[in-house]
This record gives sequence, structure tokens and C-alpha cells, in this order.
Amino acid sequence: MSRSPRTTKAETAKAEPVRHIPVLLAEVLAGLSLDRPGLAVDGTFGAGGYTRALLDAAPEIRVIAIDRDPSAIRAGAALVDASGGRLRLVQGRFGDLDTLIADQDEAQADWVVLDIGVSSMQLDEAHRGFSFRQDGPLDMRMGGDGPSAADLVNGEEEGTLADILYHFGEERRSRAVARAIVEARRRAPITTTAQLAELIAGVVRPEPGSPIHPATRSFQGLRIAVNDELGELVRGLHAAERVLKPGGRLAVVTFHSLEDRIVKQFFSARSGRAAQASRHLPGVERPAPKSFRLVTKGPILPSEAETEVNPRARSAKLRAGERTDAPPPPPLSAIETLASLPAPQGRGARR
Ligand SMILES: C[S@@+](CC[C@H](N)C(=O)[O-])C[C@H]1O[C@@H](n2cnc3c(N)ncnc32)[C@H](O)[C@@H]1O
Repeated sequence: MSRSPRTTKAETAKAEPVRHIPVLLAEVLAGLSLDRPGLAVDGTFGAGGYTRALLDAAPEIRVIAIDRDPSAIRAGAALVDASGGRLRLVQGRFGDLDTLIADQDEAQADWVVLDIGVSSMQLDEAHRGFSFRQDGPLDMRMGGDGPSAADLVNGEEEGTLADILYHFGEERRSRAVARAIVEARRRAPITTTAQLAELIAGVVRPEPGSPIHPATRSFQGLRIAVNDELGELVRGLHAAERVLKPGGRLAVVTFHSLEDRIVKQFFSARSGRAAQASRHLPGVERPAPKSFRLVTKGPILPSEAETEVNPRARSAKLRAGERTDAPPPPPLSAIETLASLPAPQGRGARR
């Protein structure tokens, strides 16, 4: 463990204003058990809420923080400066976290934390195109590369669009929304978030008494598809498994039922509970050596006090596990299946 100068809480706190309220922070820190010197990898730096807490937890903890969003990396520069050499900030995807830390001359980590999804800054900045509440270009790319939401909406086949909205967005009216999109784009391309939100609101009725906008689920589905968020999650879990030392801990916070199913199944399979966990699922895998011990038996949810202060925490779930000394088993194909759209012939008649 290399010694580095101590950074105080006050120094890290004043490095930049916090705009994203970290979710389940105390529970994440407890799940990681930061009781020794070591290297933590924060795979989703965002506004640096978890990274700050990791740096503040003990002066001998060093952090490599990753974010795919270049604007999050730029905003974190002041925190790097204030960290006295204890924080390295890397642009990239957590699905590649083993190669990203190898590039930093680190082979193994003591802790990995992933806080899946979108940050408040990304949602609140209209020009990023994540929000139906403010008009902006229909973009939704966290990393700014690859096809945008407009590319999907204007270019995908109707059946694929319906699958994206149903599978990733859990939108029951997915077929009707996809049909409306295809009809509208025949007249002119759909290029803005307001255009798409209005079109969806014409097809999906708001649930009586619910504050949820009718476009919420469709926007979520598109965002997950644009950023391949579930594929990243699967790759991130496997990469964390490869880099964690025996006794090292992985904590994952999710906001979507599919994400949580992936994390739950991963930990169940890797801790030897696969037979129970996947009894009702196709493709039950042969038991592999146990590479994790469960730290959380079930999901940890935010308290009422937290959701009152931060309504965005409402659907958060935390799961954590501790790495054993078993070598990493082969990738778990059952979670790869969960992260993909169903095969075309499987497109349900339920919508
Ligand atoms: C919910 S925010 C994290 C907030 C952070 N824990 C905090 O307390 O400030 C999620 C962040 O992860 C980033 N992200 C999402 N998917 C990613 C991926 N596959 N690789 C790296 N960063 C990712 C997003 O760009 C976003 O900044």
C-alpha cells in the first residue's frame, strides 16, 4: 500500500458543488466494509458522491473512479486535485474495468461499487436528451458515441422498437407506441424529446392519480437500449469478479427490476444458490465454484427518510457480495440472456 497525503472531508467537500444526491450511501459503505487500506474502484463516478465518501472513509484508501460520460470526468477534475494523489479519474465503461485499472498499473481491487443508471445532471441537462420534461435533441448517449435515441426511433424496425419499449421500459402499450412512432416518422423524422413525449402521451393514457408521465417507461427503455446498459451491467459484474481480491467486496445499486434481477441472479449463482434462484428460468447453469459469499441476503432498500429527501432513490436496491478465493468461473450465460432482447420469434402477443 503506497502512503499518500491525507485529504480532509472539508477539502473533498469544497472541491465542487454536489448536484446529485448519492443514493443508499451509508448502506453502500457498510456493505463494502472499508476496514483496511486498499484500492476501491467506483465504476460510476457521476457527481462523485460515492468517491468522496470512499476517500473520506480512511486516508489509506485509494480510488480509481470511472465514468463513460466525458462531462462527469471534466467536472471531477477539482476532486482529483483535492485528493492528494489518492484519486484517479478515468473515462471509460465499467464493463471494461479490469483493463481500465490494468492501464493504471493495478491488477486487483479491494472494493468495487456500481451505481447503475443515469445521474441527476444527465437527466436535468436538456441538451443531453434524456428528459421528456424539457425539450432537447433526442440523444440519450451517456458517452456521446454510437447511435443516439433519434437514430433508434427513426431507424429501427417497428417490432424491435416495440421490444425495446416492452423489455427494457416495461411499457405495456409498447406495440401501440412503436406503431405511432413509425407512422409519425413517415411524415418527418422525430428529432426532439418533446416531439416524442407528445406522441407517446397520445397513445399511453396516464394512470389515474399517478404522477408518472406516460412517456416515462418508453424513455427509460430507449435510454437502456442506446447505452446498452444491461449488457454493461453483465460485463461489469464479471469484470469486478475478475479483479476483486479474496475478501474484496462488490456493492451494486440498481433502479430497475431487470437490473436487479441480473444482479440477484449473478450473486445467487456465484454464491451457490443458483439452483434455487433459477429453478423457474431457462438455461439453469451447472454449479460453479462459489466465487462470492452473500453480504446482503436480500435487497437493501432506502428508508422512508431517504426517499422523502431524495425521491429519485425510490426504486433503488442494493446487493453486495464478498469475493472468495475461488478462481473466476466462466461468464454466466443466464444473465447475458436477461440483458438481451428476446429472439424475434419470442416477441410476445401480450402487447
Ligand atoms: C447514478 S450515477 C452515479 C452517481 C454517483 N454514485 C454519485 O454518487 O455521484 C451513474 C453514472 O454512471 C455513469 N455510467 C453509466 N453507465 C456506465 C458505464 N457502463 N460505464 C461507466 N460509467 C457509466 C453515468 O454516466 C453516470 O454518470
